Amino acid sequence: MTRLMMTVNGELRAVEAPPMTRLLDVLRLYLGLTGTKEGCGEGECGACSVIVNGLLVNSCLIPVGQVAGATICTVEGLGTPEQMHPIQASFLKHGGAQCGICTPGMMMAAVHLLEREPHPSLVQIQEALAGNLCRCTGYQKIFDAVRLAYAAGGEE
Ligand code: FES
Ligand code: FES
Repeated sequence: MTRLMMTVNGELRAVEAPPMTRLLDVLRLYLGLTGTKEGCGEGECGACSVIVNGLLVNSCLIPVGQVAGATICTVEGLGTPEQMHPIQASFLKHGGAQCGICTPGMMMAAVHLLEREPHPSLVQIQEALAGNLCRCTGYQKIFDAVRLAYAAGGEE
């Protein structure tokens, strides 16, 4: 067991875990942040995406020992039902929330893009979400939600 400190969604948290424990499991099982999902568990689907020190990562591939002292943002850190992040409001408004497994990771990838480019082109959105897979209804509404997150009034 190793005692690690990290800042998660603005709070300093202490975790006692074997250093090879996946960050995904630390978030979900040790810290109770179950918004981050497991899809493939192999770095292919993006469902487990979180932002670590400003970088978008697949938390299923990161041993927690590598993120000691890091600043981590998960979907729980974006907003609240009363005060949603613009990407959450836009996913709600434009039907981007298609399933509960993929949506948190999609939103983290979108936020990572929007922090650098609030008004992205379709190509930029497609590239930013290339690591986030959907097997249900497709990507159009997700792309619309990302594109319109910071549009005036959330409209075209
Ligand atoms: S669960 Fe991590 S990339 Fe699929
Ligand atoms: S959004 Fe999850 S499979 Fe399509």
